[in-house]
Amino acid sequence: MKIVVVGQGYVGLPLAVAALRAGHSVIGLDNNEHRVSTLSQGISPVEDIADEDFSTYLGNGLYTATSDAAASQGADVIAVCVPTPLNSKHEPDLSALKASVSSIAQYLLRETLVIIESTVEPGTTRDFVLPLLLAGSGLEESDIDLAFSPERIDPANKKYTIANTPKLVAGLTDKAADRAVEFYSGFVNEVTRCSTLEVAETAKLLENSFRLINISFINEIAQMCDVMGVDVNEVISAASTKPYGFMPFFPSAGIGGHCIPIDPIYLSHKAKSIGAPSSFIDLAQKINDERPGYFVAQASTLLGGLGGKKVLVVGVAYKPNVSDVRESAAEALVDGLRAAGALVSWHDDLVGEWRGEKSVALSSAFDLAILVNVHDGTDLSALGAVPLINTKGGVA
Ligand SMILES: NC(=O)c1ccc[n+]([C@@H]2O[C@H](COP(=O)([O-])OP(=O)(O)OC[C@H]3O[C@@H](n4cnc5c(N)ncnc54)[C@H](O)[C@@H]3O)[C@@H](O)[C@H]2O)c1
Repeated sequence: MKIVVVGQGYVGLPLAVAALRAGHSVIGLDNNEHRVSTLSQGISPVEDIADEDFSTYLGNGLYTATSDAAASQGADVIAVCVPTPLNSKHEPDLSALKASVSSIAQYLLRETLVIIESTVEPGTTRDFVLPLLLAGSGLEESDIDLAFSPERIDPANKKYTIANTPKLVAGLTDKAADRAVEFYSGFVNEVTRCSTLEVAETAKLLENSFRLINISFINEIAQMCDVMGVDVNEVISAASTKPYGFMPFFPSAGIGGHCIPIDPIYLSHKAKSIGAPSSFIDLAQKINDERPGYFVAQASTLLGGLGGKKVLVVGVAYKPNVSDVRESAAEALVDGLRAAGALVSWHDDLVGEWRGEKSVALSSAFDLAILVNVHDGTDLSALGAVPLINTKGGVA
């Protein structure tokens, strides 16, 4: 089949590679010209995909990267994997979804299956995407096969990949759902069909809200343990010996990335718009937002004030072993330390440049180092005797 994957990022490129491996031809459509040019040279912009994973397909013409939406014409399947972030008012920003769906709609032919993989709030596929497809294509609703299938990819996770992470699928019609199930069954071991689009949309947001709430909870427990002088990681290990009813979550400087801090806001936004409660999400969000400030206060206590103190933040990516800095807790931490007068530098083996600043070398020339997300292979020995705060578990 001819597959078009719109958005060639952390979600879209692995999907493109999986579809190529399943024997399809794939067009990677992306409005970022730089990304298209990088991909066309066989260079992967995401850590989970090696250049070799798609360069052979480039060579034999089975994979093409382009910014020209006209290339989507005649596709059997179009999967939309564009960002769905928050806007400046901290509300869902569907501008990339709108732009990308509108751009493909004008080339849509009858029988093309459109699948939304971007995370959206319940009702978006039916009430936002479908009208855009109808308006842009001039087709009848009965001519459009539309499905929603949330992506569950976990960047840098070596154990769970597209193939062995079960996939949820729902269709506007039974036919669309059948076609989407068939498409994913070609490269995903287990595909589960949901009865409605809204079930699948809400399930994705439940998964990520569950993580936000539990990570925020363990971060609050970590603060409790700090006051009690108890090692939170030992507490978590001890509790984890219970074989049922407990799932470990681990402390950090706060939740980052394009999913866990954002997706729950899509759910709470929906809840507020229909007059339903969302107190757990709201509280978890508050605890998460306060977490970097906790370490600013801890640093200040440790150093007897932060004015003029040289502080190094180690690992500014949102989690270990990725270079993605979106929503990283390091941002609020660095800003908070600077607001308190500290002279802050940062080091990250995978992030060379961030917010117009460059990563500095690890050395012993600091009054304090705060470990945020240390990548595998980062050698902390160059810090020598610099005092450390480890956001993953107390003062070292
Ligand atoms: N990153 C994750 O771990 C993850 C996991 C599961 C689900 N998701 C969801 O998947 C979606 C995509 O996230 P991502 O992390 O892959 O984002 P990303 O930023 O890594 O990739 C998105 C790509 O879409 C392109 N794009 C933006 N607007 C476009 C347009 N109008 N037309 C064509 N291309 C356009 C961008 O240039 C970029 O290359 C989001 O809804 C996100 O919530 C992400």
